[in-house]
Amino acid sequence: MFKKNILCIGAGYVGGPTMAVIAHHCPDYRVVVVDINHDRIQQWNSGNLPIYEPGLSEIVAEALGKNLFFSTDVDGHIDQADIIFVSVNTPTKTFGLGAGKAADLQYWEQTARQILKASSTGKIVVEKSTLPVKTAAAIGRILDSNDKGIHFEVVSNPEFLAEGSAIHDLEHPDRVLIGARPTESGQAAMLQVVDIYRHWIPEERIITSNVWSSELSKLVANAFLAQRVSSINTISALCEKTNADIEEVAKAVGMDSRIGPKFLKAGVGFGGSCFKKDILNLTYIAENYGLFEVARYWEQVVEINSYQQRRFVNLIITNMFNTIVGKRIAIFGFSFKADTGDVRESPAINVCQALLDEKAVLAIHDPKALEGAAQELGDYAGQFSLETDPYEAASGAHAVVIATDWNEFSTLDYKRIYDSMEKPAFIFDGRNLLDHQKLYEIGFSVHRIGRPSLSRI
Ligand code: UDX
Ligand code: ADP
Repeated sequence: MFKKNILCIGAGYVGGPTMAVIAHHCPDYRVVVVDINHDRIQQWNSGNLPIYEPGLSEIVAEALGKNLFFSTDVDGHIDQADIIFVSVNTPTKTFGLGAGKAADLQYWEQTARQILKASSTGKIVVEKSTLPVKTAAAIGRILDSNDKGIHFEVVSNPEFLAEGSAIHDLEHPDRVLIGARPTESGQAAMLQVVDIYRHWIPEERIITSNVWSSELSKLVANAFLAQRVSSINTISALCEKTNADIEEVAKAVGMDSRIGPKFLKAGVGFGGSCFKKDILNLTYIAENYGLFEVARYWEQVVEINSYQQRRFVNLIITNMFNTIVGKRIAIFGFSFKADTGDVRESPAINVCQALLDEKAVLAIHDPKALEGAAQELGDYAGQFSLETDPYEAASGAHAVVIATDWNEFSTLDYKRIYDSMEKPAFIFDGRNLLDHQKLYEIGFSVHRIGRPSLSRI
């Protein structure tokens, strides 16, 4: 009864939301999402979703059991599928050749071999995970090395969604990119993938290219975004030395229509599962081709990100009289940005670890990421507490540190917070989120990124 069967292998941050939106807009397609992680699949089926994403639970609830299914039976679903999206994880390699830089493709290769083994007919295999350039060729070779006489076409369709706005990004993408081989079967496969997106995306936003351009574009888009954040963060350091104000500089610079206003928010640095991983991947690829200057250029974007986090920690320690031993510090926010519970590469991890190494006692509050905080800081058990109530976190603290740009932090009652804290009471706003003048008037010493401190001492 369904026109086509779509399978997605990997029910993570990319696979889950993407397939939910495809199922929502394509009632004529059957969409199955499989994963080897039983708990994850059970959560997707239970309504208590494994990831927090505004608007996601509603669209999953609507399609679940109608044309959207979650299962752990990977092999069982492969052969029924016409189109297989692969969105398994591609972390940075931690061992051997390219350790710390190259993408670890073991999950991808396992998946390719699994597809091959379980298939009795040819299929379109779509790369959804971010992969190094030319992966499609390698995957294609594995898939076509069969004696079943079947052919697989590998298409690249990178996902540009950002966490926290995944559903909006999937509903209204700036563009959908589909890369395929120039052969007749490559172009036919490409059209089948285009057909999916045509259900809700205007034609002019669906762009096609060759496979390599598509794979590379994803890495480059993330590298450019991260580069903007690092660029503005270097200028924040200069602003702190010169009494210029980074918010004013970013506004003035961003109003140049050639530059544009987005991704110019200075802060404690970028996090998330993609930026660092993709840039390191890009540098690894450049090095492989002997392009060392190119590699050094992009590596610096990651280095500046660490520098910015170190700078923020120094700002805290030096202003708190060069010692935080035994001092309670409230950390507001642990996720890598607002509206997500994801803590992967969150700047809060490094900031908290550095403060804990200085023997501070942390009270961590985050609306969605306390579980992740507990996991990341496991080695420091006993030195921090997890607080569901921000007022509890701040009570008795010497300082409040804003590590994530959760909007709700700006509407808290800071007079109440001030009254419950040790004095002098400090706020270190690592996201330039709060109304600093108001905080200063309440009595806080306010320190921020790229802007003069409002200090009483
Ligand atoms: C990113 C890309 O935006 C997305 O297109 C890609 O598919 C995956 O990687 P994501 O990691 O979800 O998405 O978050 P993003 O909104 O890009 O933010 C990344 C980090 O940069 C966050 O830690 C954020 O706080 C930080 N950031 C972003 C800044 O510090 N300043 C800014 O101006 C923008
Ligand atoms: P992303 O952010 O790219 O979506 P995640 O780590 O959130 O990455 O999700 C990747 C998912 O892929 C995980 O849930 C993991 O269990 C799943 N996975 C990895 N290897 C396989 C495999 N061989 N078969 C099925 N699922 C897999």
